[in-house]
Amino acid sequence: MQNLAFEYDVCVIGGAGHVGLPLAAALAEKGQRTLIYDINEAVLKRISAGEVPFMEDGMEELLPNVLASGKLALTSKKEDIGKADIVIITIGTPVDEFLNPVFKLIKSCIDDLLPYLRDGQLLILRSTVYPNTTDWLARYLEENGRELQVAFCPERVVQGKGLEEIKKLPQLVGGVTPEAQQKAEKLFGLLAPEVVELKPIEAEFAKLFNNAYRYIEFAIANEFYMITRAAGVDYYRVLKGMSHNYPRAKNIPKAGFAAGPCLFKDTMQLSAFSNNRFSLGHSAMLVNEGLVLYIIDEIARDYDLSQLKIGLLGMAFKADNDDIRSSLSYKLKKALEFRAKKVLTTDPFVNVDPELKPLDYVLENSDLFILCTPHSQYKNLDLKGKPIVDIWGFFEKEFDGKLAVESTAPALAARGSNVR
Ligand SMILES: NC(=O)c1ccc[n+]([C@@H]2O[C@H](COP(=O)([O-])OP(=O)(O)OC[C@H]3O[C@@H](n4cnc5c(N)ncnc54)[C@H](O)[C@@H]3O)[C@@H](O)[C@H]2O)c1
Repeated sequence: MQNLAFEYDVCVIGGAGHVGLPLAAALAEKGQRTLIYDINEAVLKRISAGEVPFMEDGMEELLPNVLASGKLALTSKKEDIGKADIVIITIGTPVDEFLNPVFKLIKSCIDDLLPYLRDGQLLILRSTVYPNTTDWLARYLEENGRELQVAFCPERVVQGKGLEEIKKLPQLVGGVTPEAQQKAEKLFGLLAPEVVELKPIEAEFAKLFNNAYRYIEFAIANEFYMITRAAGVDYYRVLKGMSHNYPRAKNIPKAGFAAGPCLFKDTMQLSAFSNNRFSLGHSAMLVNEGLVLYIIDEIARDYDLSQLKIGLLGMAFKADNDDIRSSLSYKLKKALEFRAKKVLTTDPFVNVDPELKPLDYVLENSDLFILCTPHSQYKNLDLKGKPIVDIWGFFEKEFDGKLAVESTAPALAARGSNVR
């Protein structure tokens, strides 16, 4: 794989981020001379010192090793980008206030890089992009008189488990030309057990469909949860019953906050692409976002919110992680601050929110809790007999197949089983 005409085999643009860093470290571990380029100099400094800037399984061990081996280097100098044979873009691709993709971020990143990219390099888009972005990029480079190869190879790992999953998941590779395809396949073949060849537009859809499908799956669970609750039925008894040894229901997720930097915005990217006629995607958004307000209404049925001090347990967007980007815990906090006497928040991993309180303080000073993020360490919490809203079914016992025989519980009692 090594092209000795280049000082580096790969340069990862946005390499200090959640996708870029695990990818760069995994490539360096495979012996690729890897360069991280990022505009965030403060984080580059921390990574250079061996500090992992966010939670990522296995990174604490791997990062010092790849730095010491000399296979991983870091830079904020654009001139260095031309020293790599392959350049991989992993910058963020958010949606804007109209829920449309912010295309100008990709374009201005490319415009910034353009003077430093070298003809003959392979340029890979790894960020999740709006359909046809890869073909646009190839055209744009050509119009600017540049001769680079272009491919789209989406990242599909789950956040926090990138290092583990990158070695297990098939890699989708969509090269604009056969040369780009071959070279990108060779690179990702170093990491993954198999490579799947697609056209760029097919790979772009595949990535967006993967995320939208997951988002809709969560919405189904959340809607089932709200339907059963309104009928006075315990959703987790139904879920256990319907999925017990029944293969076609085994993948139905538990209810809970479907949030984070990817699922929502990628569903909306797809919707923007289909002229806002992705009705399932929009419905999923209403359900997933609406769950937060539903919980508040449900508490308000049983309690006078204006007298209630509410403790929110977990502010990260997912369990056992420190990432608060697009976390619905914050939407819940905002809505509750308007109605409740006090809102206290805590999280064992988040270290960027000065309003967070220690867990013991929140346990002591709240009247009721909402389990926002089911961090494993909350499993054996002493709630001091106070009620907790458990949308996740986190405190449910393992199902032994014998639960689902009782008659339907009365409405209040069923509600009480989740507001414990
Ligand atoms: N987070 C995930 O688990 C995940 C999984 C699959 C795909 N994705 C996709 O990967 C992409 C990146 O997501 P992320 O979570 O890693 O974002 P991130 O914000 O954690 O990382 C992006 C990095 O890019 C850097 N950056 C921004 N603009 C730059 C520029 N012009 N030049 C150089 N560096 C620049 C930032 O400083 C940051 O370090 C997105 O498209 C996202 O949808 C994310």
